Amino acid sequence: MAINFYIELAYMLGAVGFVWGLRLLSSPDSARKGNLIAGVGMGLAIIAAMTMPIPGAANNYIWILSGLAIGGVIGTVTSHKVKMTAMPQLVSVFNGFGGACAVLLAIVEGERGLDTGLPIAGGQWSITLATLLIGGVTFTGSMLAYLKLDGRLGDNKLLLPRHQLVNQLFLLAAVVWGTMLFFKNETTSMTEVYAFTLLCLVYGASFVVPIGGADMPVVISLLNSFSGISAATAGIIYHNQFMLVGGILVGASGTILTVMMCKAMNRSLFNVLIGGFGGSSAAAGGKAGGDQTVKEVSLNDAAILLNYSKSVIFVPGYGLAVAQAQKVCKEIDDLLSENGVDVKYAIHPVAGRMPGHMNVLLAEADVPYPKLLDLDDSNNALSQADVAVIVGANDVVNPAAENDPSSPIYGMPVLQVWNAKHVIVLKRSMNAGYAGIENPLFFHAKNRMLFGDAKNTLSKLVVELKGL
Ligand code: TAP
Repeated sequence: MAINFYIELAYMLGAVGFVWGLRLLSSPDSARKGNLIAGVGMGLAIIAAMTMPIPGAANNYIWILSGLAIGGVIGTVTSHKVKMTAMPQLVSVFNGFGGACAVLLAIVEGERGLDTGLPIAGGQWSITLATLLIGGVTFTGSMLAYLKLDGRLGDNKLLLPRHQLVNQLFLLAAVVWGTMLFFKNETTSMTEVYAFTLLCLVYGASFVVPIGGADMPVVISLLNSFSGISAATAGIIYHNQFMLVGGILVGASGTILTVMMCKAMNRSLFNVLIGGFGGSSAAAGGKAGGDQTVKEVSLNDAAILLNYSKSVIFVPGYGLAVAQAQKVCKEIDDLLSENGVDVKYAIHPVAGRMPGHMNVLLAEADVPYPKLLDLDDSNNALSQADVAVIVGANDVVNPAAENDPSSPIYGMPVLQVWNAKHVIVLKRSMNAGYAGIENPLFFHAKNRMLFGDAKNTLSKLVVELKGL
């Protein structure tokens, strides 16, 4: 009796650690502490689960500790090795493993229930089947997302003709089959359970096939919420409140993030899932329409303009991440700031390819957090700024989102860089960004292009600034 009380207490403290940790994660200053507190909560819950007495059996500590040791070593090595740009892939793998765990738990519990030959309570049986479906989809969907994001599998490699219809048929088959198994209850064989699991696994991979590489962050966030839901349903199967709370937190935060990302792109989730704009990030290049021409600026003129400005706003985008130009960007910030220039960073919520992408990169370069402005503050500051320097951003500074109703990104909130007195765009070519559309900003009277790899160009600008 007493031991169960302490186990429940440890679960409750673990859940409080999760909620408290999540709260602290909302600010970069406290995020590290939040992660640690959530980790301690998780550790407490693991110890509690290991001490739980199992009626008629002994805890198999060799297996449990071996699993913990192997997982711990892999996790530690991976966290030290992973590059910032490979974070979405890592998150995807984590989600997949969460789904796989839920599937294994549901199979073990399903087998245990069926072994008795007695009817399984309807609620318990339906939750077991739902866990197989959601966990299975999460596992293979996340693994395919990982392969696509890591460039190991081309976007269209597995695409079938009328793939969306195939997916709808898979989903229908899974729901119908699951319902049949639900009614078969204790007469269900384990072979039928395995076959149902296989169908869910195949559907998971097929679900992700038609979605383009650059839409993957939204799908990963959705799969993240699925992994939370599957953990929560597994928690119900085991009557484990800690798993339930943890799963609900992951499920809810993943869902909120998915909705926020879609909103920031002004697209519906349905549009993302059926592969609306975007698709491959190797989108068509934007050619200047009509007799429009772009004007370039020399490195020396750009350095003089920046040096004698009162306020400069950097607008980082995906290209900054590709070029890994964050540190040299900070070097320019330091040089200008020493000269009395007010330097800020305008951060669009979906700049880059994952939520918080720019914040993480700039934090890595030690840019003070108060210098980072959100969308609204950025747009206020841009109208007062002398120069807006766009570093590898494209769609998030496209005026067509505000003034061209025929544009696929019309209605997406953007950074109004054209309101600054001068605009300089750093990119390698006239190629389009993720949305695959032309950007009229490049032809704007105020804009000057500075072509080249962002890191290379900014490094040359440092030399120019030092020589002034
Ligand atoms: P993009 O519109 O994708 O534009 C990035 C630009 O960077 C490209 O035009 C490219 O032009 C340039 N570039 C690439 N490598 C470079 C390098 N080494 N040096 C200099 N420039 C380089 O990026 P964005 O403005 O950040 O917008 C993000 C897009 O991704 C949005 O459409 C958004 O909806 C979408 N998206 C974002 C997310 C999240 S959560 N962030 C999720 C899903 C989709 P060149 O090839 O000419 O150099």
